Amino acid sequence: MDILQTIKETDKSFSQEIQKVQDIKSLEELRVKYLSRKGIVSTLFDDLKNVSREDKPLVGKSLNELRNSVQLRFDELKEKLESVSGKDHTLVDLSLPGRKTELGSKHILTQTLDEIKTIFKGLGFSIFEGPELESDYYNFEALNFPPDHPARDMQDTFFVNKSYLLRTHTSPVQVRLMTSQEPPVRAIMPGKVYRNEAISARSYCLFHQVEGLYVDTDVTFAELKGTLVSFARQFYGSDLKYRFRPSFFPFTEPSAEMDITCFLCHGKGCRMCKGSGWLEILGCGMVDPNVFKEVGYDPEKYTGYAFGMGIERIAILKYDIPDIRMYFENDLRFLKQF
Ligand code: DAH
Repeated sequence: MDILQTIKETDKSFSQEIQKVQDIKSLEELRVKYLSRKGIVSTLFDDLKNVSREDKPLVGKSLNELRNSVQLRFDELKEKLESVSGKDHTLVDLSLPGRKTELGSKHILTQTLDEIKTIFKGLGFSIFEGPELESDYYNFEALNFPPDHPARDMQDTFFVNKSYLLRTHTSPVQVRLMTSQEPPVRAIMPGKVYRNEAISARSYCLFHQVEGLYVDTDVTFAELKGTLVSFARQFYGSDLKYRFRPSFFPFTEPSAEMDITCFLCHGKGCRMCKGSGWLEILGCGMVDPNVFKEVGYDPEKYTGYAFGMGIERIAILKYDIPDIRMYFENDLRFLKQF
């Protein structure tokens, strides 16, 4: 009998199809295909009327068995899929190989800052932070910048309004630290700074600085030198040569800049050091008495030193990075090298 053969084949094809079902949606499609009113099984029941009287009991029995078995397997899988966690009710195949997770890594600037922090913590410095949106008072006035100082010019500073700006250096955090604590204070102050400069390989509108400050009775320039040399030797290597050049900053007196021997040419002169054999790494000096007066420290009683360095520059000099913009482009070919 043809119909008995068809019943067998239907059972077989259902078995094959249900094996492939992974989610509720395809299971529902299978239900419609086999069990709905116009589905394959119901159509076979319709064909029952064409079967001869004597064959009817046998064919009817087979058809009932087919319908029950299809229904049973459908119910079982439905229950299983619904109990699987997750919104999409997808069956989890535990035999599949796991997905590889890509591990991120710290940005080279974060790594450099971490290293700077570790060195200064070892030298007895704590860490203090201040806001990036700063007032003219903290960024300039309290730091002894005269009202007509060129750094106040709109060319260099991003002003938000007349009295607020994006800080152009981390030195205002010195003022915030001193107005919040009595001496002795010894801290480094890392953070972002902003300058309204033409963007090029050497300058960017945003970069990072680390400020340092130590105030107590009898703090000397020799201690400043000792601390900075110790830092530079730990960071760049113990065979490093250095020099301090006189310089000027409104908030320190005397002021200096620290140079180290060029790591590329070891002092002979090359493109990196523009032929001089030296690389400038930071600005520093003894805190100007005017700054002490502004924060309410007695300049007769206390002395202190301060320094400030650019983190991008410090890392450029250590790793020979050719362009400051590379720090901010998030190109993995660059970032993965560190
Ligand atoms: N604030 C200075 C700058 O942005 C860097 C600096 C120089 C910081 C001397 C200091 C310092 O604390 O003593 O160029």
